[in-house]
Amino acid sequence: MEGLKGLILSGGAGTRLRPITHTSAKQLVPVANKPVLFYGIEALVDAGVTEIGIIIAPETGEEIREAAGDGSAFGAEITYIVQDKPAGLAHAVLTAEEFIDGSPFVMYLGDNLLADGLRGLVSTFRSEEPDALILLTPVDDPQSYGVAELDGERIVRLVEKPKDPPSNLALVGVYLFAPPIFDAARALEPSWRGELEITEAIQSLIEEGKAVRSEVVSGWWKDTGQLADMLEANRLVLEEIETRIEGEVDESSRVEGRVVIEKGAVLKGSVVRGPAVIGAGAHIEDAYVGPYTSIGEGVCVRRSEVEHSIILTGSLVEDLGTRMEASLLGREVKLTRSDGMPKTLRMLVGDKSEIKII
Ligand code: TTP
Repeated sequence: MEGLKGLILSGGAGTRLRPITHTSAKQLVPVANKPVLFYGIEALVDAGVTEIGIIIAPETGEEIREAAGDGSAFGAEITYIVQDKPAGLAHAVLTAEEFIDGSPFVMYLGDNLLADGLRGLVSTFRSEEPDALILLTPVDDPQSYGVAELDGERIVRLVEKPKDPPSNLALVGVYLFAPPIFDAARALEPSWRGELEITEAIQSLIEEGKAVRSEVVSGWWKDTGQLADMLEANRLVLEEIETRIEGEVDESSRVEGRVVIEKGAVLKGSVVRGPAVIGAGAHIEDAYVGPYTSIGEGVCVRRSEVEHSIILTGSLVEDLGTRMEASLLGREVKLTRSDGMPKTLRMLVGDKSEIKII
């Protein structure tokens, strides 16, 4: 199969990850200090797919262009395709029709992470040449996903968020398609949520008797569209890092377990217990950084304890007096405390932020 292209969907509204997505694309939130989107690009390139289109939204597209560039840093050639509104995954496919230009393609949701990459899947698609190959994973709450009903290996039906799920196999955010998907998408009407649903387009391929195959993922898969999943993805990726210490660790600091400390980062009088990554130029002073934490570039953590969290570039966490956990701090956030009286909270908090004082 010649000319397999990649299509990464990095538009969308990102409502479930506000306020981060008010100012930034959710696909650029870092997992283990690397934007989620980059894992997708790398997985495609690793599977031999280097001609990649990225769907972007008008609001966040520029930032994505700046981050991923022309693709040469990944060994890819990236074309950006603006989708004027987040009208659904099948709408994104139609928006990319000119770029796809009759080729078979891998569609990858830009906020998804897949432990095992795409090689196996791409090779099945190339050898069997079905009209669609979808990826499934067992989930605990199939009611929240698109779910497949199977007869042996054959897909009988796909249902979006079923009340009475026919199986626990949910659709993962990677799909491989041959050209018939375009006619199927064109024939769709918007669903109850006003979107052109890719599950409906695939369902109509099944009804037309087209070859729709499925494979169950063996490793983990994560959709990072909301906070708990983002933290879980961070945990899973950090689980696989190897120790690399290029920053400065003073004599009174301790580094335990697998930890990455980038160039220019400084640890003073602190304990870092991995798996954790400390970004370039970060300052960790009289602090504790616990497992499953990603500290971004230039972040300062002083006299505070942080665990199982993601802190983005340029933020400051100082004198917290209590451990921060399961948190995502955006860029240049200042979280500080002082011992003065009266004991009050003083905050300047953006729209749709969430703060829990426990
Ligand atoms: P979703 O997470 O399903 O949708 P969303 O980004 O609008 O988020 P939310 O539900 O929190 O409002 O989208 C999955 C991926 O596909 C994500 O990377 C965004 C992208 N996408 C598009 O590019 N175009 C679209 O029309 C939609 C719906 C999503």
